[in-house]
Amino acid sequence: MEITGKSKIMFVLADPVDHVRASAVLNAYFAGIGEDVATSPLHVRPDDLPAVVGAIRHMNNVVGFGVTIPHKVAIAALLDEISQNARLIGAVNFVKRTRDGRLVGDNMDAPGFISALLNRGCTISGKRVLQLGAGGAGRATALAMAQARAAELWISNRDPVKAQALADAIQALHPETKVTAGADTAENFDLIVNTTSLGMLSDDPLPIDVSGISNTTVVYDIIVNPPVTRLMVTAAARGAVTIGGKAMLDEQMALVADFIRR
Ligand SMILES: NC(=O)c1ccc[n+]([C@@H]2O[C@H](COP(=O)([O-])OP(=O)(O)OC[C@H]3O[C@@H](n4cnc5c(N)ncnc54)[C@H](OP(=O)(O)O)[C@@H]3O)[C@@H](O)[C@H]2O)c1
Repeated sequence: MEITGKSKIMFVLADPVDHVRASAVLNAYFAGIGEDVATSPLHVRPDDLPAVVGAIRHMNNVVGFGVTIPHKVAIAALLDEISQNARLIGAVNFVKRTRDGRLVGDNMDAPGFISALLNRGCTISGKRVLQLGAGGAGRATALAMAQARAAELWISNRDPVKAQALADAIQALHPETKVTAGADTAENFDLIVNTTSLGMLSDDPLPIDVSGISNTTVVYDIIVNPPVTRLMVTAAARGAVTIGGKAMLDEQMALVADFIRR
């Protein structure tokens, strides 16, 4: 990659920084579509976030930046505007810098998650859905599935209090979807979404008892690494259609590209 004075510059703000892969994914994506955009990770400690964000406002070749752990919540107060979805999810994961230095935050998890499903011909409207996990990504996917008019959304989590809190929040926003905390079996669901981190390590247990999964189930594991999780392998062996987290990540890249062109 050749970075010149004509390149558009992006950052990924993180602490710690050594696990960050989003910058490499963004660079590969922009190289692939022939856009002159270069992205670098920036190691920013929480106390320094306001100063760094203030400085970025004055960097005229910066078009935006990704935000990851631990800044996704704290960043909101430092921006000029955030999208309604980012507000509802309670986290920003991408910020656009406009030509006049305004900073506009959004959350790409929800639309990226839905686009990857739609691209595979899977719709959510009227479906019975089970979501495993109620963490940061789970907030986005639950909201996205209610916005896409799932008939029933079940949310199961290791910490049941968090599952209940997320179910209550989504139910209040979307009364047309029946939202329930619980469901320990995978039976009779059209779509099962894993948003827990179970599956990232090779010796992790499966996030759910898979005996109810059949060839009418779609299993979507949003874990990016490994690209094919044990849940996906096991579900595919039972005839299910499976989707991995890289599809969701790739869709987010396309959305970021659109976002910084606007
Ligand atoms: N494909 C994409 O574009 C994309 C985007 C964002 C995230 N992700 C992936 O999604 C996963 C979750 O990310 P996140 O940001 O939501 O993390 P997070 O906020 O830390 O949430 C982690 C979730 O996993 C559950 N969990 C963790 N360890 C567990 C265990 N041992 N047993 C059962 N449940 C466990 C947590 O349950 P408790 O609430 O009980 O702790 C929580 O629901 C990660 O693998 C991440 O890489 C993918």
